[in-house]
Amino acid sequence: MATATASHTPEDVFDVEAIRAQFPILSEEVHGKSLVYLDTGASAQKPQLVMDAVDDMYKHAYSNVHRGAHRMSELATDRFEHAREQVRSFLNAAHSHEIIFVRNGTEACNLVAFSYAKKFLQEGDAILISEMEHHSNIVPWHMVAEEKGLRVLAVPVTDDGGFDMDAYDRLLEDGVKLVAVTHTSNVLGTVTPAKEIIRKAHAAGAKVLLDGCQSAVHMPVDVRDLDVDFYAITGHKLYGPSGIGVLYGKEELLNAMPPYQGGGSMIKTVTLTKSTYAPLPAKFEAGTPAIAQAVGFGAALDYMRSIGLDAIRDYEEDLRAYATQKLSAVPGLKIYGTMPGKAAVISFTLDKAHSHDVSTILDRHGVAIRAGHHCAQPLMDRFGVAATARASFGMYNTRADVDRLVEAVEFVSEIFG
Ligand code: ALA
Repeated sequence: MATATASHTPEDVFDVEAIRAQFPILSEEVHGKSLVYLDTGASAQKPQLVMDAVDDMYKHAYSNVHRGAHRMSELATDRFEHAREQVRSFLNAAHSHEIIFVRNGTEACNLVAFSYAKKFLQEGDAILISEMEHHSNIVPWHMVAEEKGLRVLAVPVTDDGGFDMDAYDRLLEDGVKLVAVTHTSNVLGTVTPAKEIIRKAHAAGAKVLLDGCQSAVHMPVDVRDLDVDFYAITGHKLYGPSGIGVLYGKEELLNAMPPYQGGGSMIKTVTLTKSTYAPLPAKFEAGTPAIAQAVGFGAALDYMRSIGLDAIRDYEEDLRAYATQKLSAVPGLKIYGTMPGKAAVISFTLDKAHSHDVSTILDRHGVAIRAGHHCAQPLMDRFGVAATARASFGMYNTRADVDRLVEAVEFVSEIFG
């Protein structure tokens, strides 16, 4: 982990100014103040090179993919398939056909629910989630459970925002066939002990889906090292475009699973009475995909790798520690999620101000944070709050951003105090 002293900060070794120069939006002003963007957990900003990759495709290499015999279709298909390879390499998957392009993390979870769980789980089987899941990793399980007579169980969250491993051990014995948990909580920043979760699930005969939407932006992810069965990521949280995400799945599982949606591109043959399906990955990619978005996504991932995922993690860890220390000194401020190794996501409440008021006043100071239930209502219930304010960091943030955040939060604390 990076350590910092007053005279030597990670900003000296991590060229954050060069990174910031890639993000035009960071030069914008909001209410007459320079923008401090601390809502990367909701959606990351986009570097110029991602916009350039999308723009260049539309100008020089655009058509539909996997269809035309003409030159533009070949060029577009090459770039689209190159993006798949970029994702494979980013996640260290064994094969590019294990990378299924979907719309977002939500669709990745729905694909596992309505293809894998619907086919392979039987009435009475259990799906094990946790109390810190995003709704995208809760609601699809409720839907498939209702349809198939399955049970949805949840691992509790500890007071410090940790994954309760003792409860997990017990719950795993209760007919669990699929574990679907987050790799990093979008509210608490908790990084779950994924390898241990996966090892224990496999020993109990269950498969594992990790929701990686909030982790891959903060740290390196290696699906083979994790030995995870399914892994969900989304482009817009990884400095790429929206409308594109990925489900990684192990080849043998994806091969055994039925298609999730039917339509063009995913078939081998179609008659009026029967369809047969294309091999991976096309089997799960019905219809025209988000072509230029995939290319932009690939560019974003290569950009992150050029900076280095370890370097990003260490740099953000300094920001998290610095922000935690300064925010903790604000009277009446409580932070949710204090686990060691957590990602740079800080949810907090102020005892006298509603979180929505906090975010509205911060916005007047040019500081963008999110407030609300963060699509994690069961977690809000767990901590007995209706909402929190959340500052979530990206590789383009600085200690100066933290100072602006803290100044604005102190202002709120004073006026409500
Ligand atoms: N899932 C996104 C967030 O946590 C939208 O803010």
